[in-house]
Amino acid sequence: MLFTRVYCNKTYIEQIVAYNSRMSLGYSILSIEDAPFDIVNQLLHESFQERLENNLNFDCASFTDAEFKEKSSAGNIVTVWEDDILVGTVFLGIQQRFSFFTCGFHEFLAVKSDNKSSGIGTMLQRVVVNIAKALDLDILLSSTAIPAISSVKWHKKNAFIPYKISSYEGRNYKSYNFIKPIRKGILVSLLVMITPLTLFVSKISNK
Ligand SMILES: CC(C)(COP(=O)(O)OP(=O)(O)OC[C@H]1O[C@@H](n2cnc3c(N)ncnc32)[C@H](O)[C@@H]1OP(=O)(O)O)[C@@H](O)C(=O)NCCC(=O)NCCS
Repeated sequence: MLFTRVYCNKTYIEQIVAYNSRMSLGYSILSIEDAPFDIVNQLLHESFQERLENNLNFDCASFTDAEFKEKSSAGNIVTVWEDDILVGTVFLGIQQRFSFFTCGFHEFLAVKSDNKSSGIGTMLQRVVVNIAKALDLDILLSSTAIPAISSVKWHKKNAFIPYKISSYEGRNYKSYNFIKPIRKGILVSLLVMITPLTLFVSKISNK
């Protein structure tokens, strides 16, 4: 049987606990300080092995436990367990981007090799969306390597929209940047705000 544990930073835990009980979600909510960083990091290494074998140097495939703890302690770690075995994880960081919009940043998504393509990634995403709603986020952001086909398909299947291609320092691949609206009507607001700004910038840069 699968069950979900969410390890939350103290900034967010109250809101997440309140939403969890209001919506009767049944997740187990714990403090990020109690997160099993070493076990989660071990899963990242095992799961991303397929990416290394395809010569894609995802950095989370080789984090030390201390590096992973440092990178994830400010946010929330979602985990799915089968009995006492960790079978899936994703990190949700919170940041202000795109000026007025509150964004969640979704990274370190990994499913145990034996459990891939059996719906665990989709389950993790449902949990992330619930946390995003609990925290009143407007949008989720994510990115993945363009040649990581299963991950690109996973993002599109889970309603992430590619909006940009980026290169990151030290990475030997290009990435899609994705956006996923959480708040209803947010895409329309983004277009309304961004279009006049783009026109203004192109007008002054043509002077
Ligand atoms: C990418 C990953 C997280 C997907 O999680 P998952 O639990 O295996 O995926 P799900 O079972 O929820 O599948 C959902 C959708 O993802 C896509 N997908 C998943 N595995 C796939 C595969 N092997 N090939 C192609 N598409 C795949 C499909 O669109 C699938 O929908 P479908 O079942 O209707 O075809 C997982 O395979 C993984 O951990 N990969 C290695 C690490 C990684 O790349 N992480 C993401 C980096 S950003």
